[in-house]
Amino acid sequence: MIIKKNIFSAIQPTGKLTIGHYIGVLKNWLYYQNKYNCFFCIADMHALTGIKNKIKIKNNIYDLLSIILAVGINPMNCTIFLQSNIIEHIKLYWLLNCYTYIGELNRMTQFKDKIKNKNKNNNINCGLFNYPILMSSDILLYNTDYVPIGYDQIQHLELTRLIAKRINKIYSKNIFNIPKYILAKNGSKIMSLCNPYKKMSKSDINKNNIIFLLDSSIKIKNKINNALTDSQYPPKILYNKIKKPGISNLLDIFSSIKNISIYKLEKKFINFSYNKFKKELIFELILFLKKIKKNYIFFRKKKNFLKKILLNGKLKARKIAKKNILHIYKNIGINY
Ligand code: TYM
Repeated sequence: MIIKKNIFSAIQPTGKLTIGHYIGVLKNWLYYQNKYNCFFCIADMHALTGIKNKIKIKNNIYDLLSIILAVGINPMNCTIFLQSNIIEHIKLYWLLNCYTYIGELNRMTQFKDKIKNKNKNNNINCGLFNYPILMSSDILLYNTDYVPIGYDQIQHLELTRLIAKRINKIYSKNIFNIPKYILAKNGSKIMSLCNPYKKMSKSDINKNNIIFLLDSSIKIKNKINNALTDSQYPPKILYNKIKKPGISNLLDIFSSIKNISIYKLEKKFINFSYNKFKKELIFELILFLKKIKKNYIFFRKKKNFLKKILLNGKLKARKIAKKNILHIYKNIGINY
């Protein structure tokens, strides 16, 4: 019998998703859902570390679940569940806290960025500092082999591997699988449209930097038309992240939504002006996102259906999590 590998991945329900989320991870969720044993988690406990997210969390959970279904994730093929429904994440979280050093958390760039950008009136909560340990718990609880993530999460994954190896070494046993990350082929870091040197992020105050999955056609058109390119003359549609970050970012988006290689796109657009290239991208993006939006509206209305999916996911995930946490506790010698 072939044993399927385990995949774990999660998204926070913190508001509207961007094309970066789709290209960076959801596309991989789609690809792997039939091939592996997939656990796809709505990380609501993580979302509570944000200041604004706390108030709207319930709606955000249903929004995110509807998007997950709208892009084509089928709950019959995988386990979609809500993090807060599985208490074992917290049980493991405490344990991992005791094997992680403050210096290691201090080095996390995402935490450092959040402190840098913090509003004067907001305190940094402890959850935000410990966030990577909760993420490690999510992953290690399910004997995970692979974790599809975007580029910005690599450091958290490295920490997860470090903690797992450390515990295995202390007890001289393979208590944890050592997970590997999976990045999207093109687009593990989709960049801001007007500033292609930084990641496209839903929290950006300049909304022109972001294509949201539920953006209207007119917004998509305006945002792509505004996207920064370069002043090469004559213009060249070529992929070069260093010299041509704007065009490369648009090529990543085009390539991912159409499943066409960058090489083929460069050939296709060889004598195109930037405007003409953008026109084609706008057409394809609108077509692509229209379908997602239509599906989203369909699913978002079906609250009972959504609740049922979360309940089924809870039952499936809890069964595994309960068994695994007992195994972990037993191996380190507690909970007798
Ligand atoms: P979150 O909710 O911020 O984002 C979800 C995933 O989307 C990826 N992503 C992007 N990828 C490419 N380009 C972009 N512009 C872009 N924006 C977002 C993120 O890298 C991420 O993989 N900590 C995680 C959630 C989490 C998790 C986990 C992930 C909690 N537990 C366990 C994996 C395994 C986060 O904040 O993702």
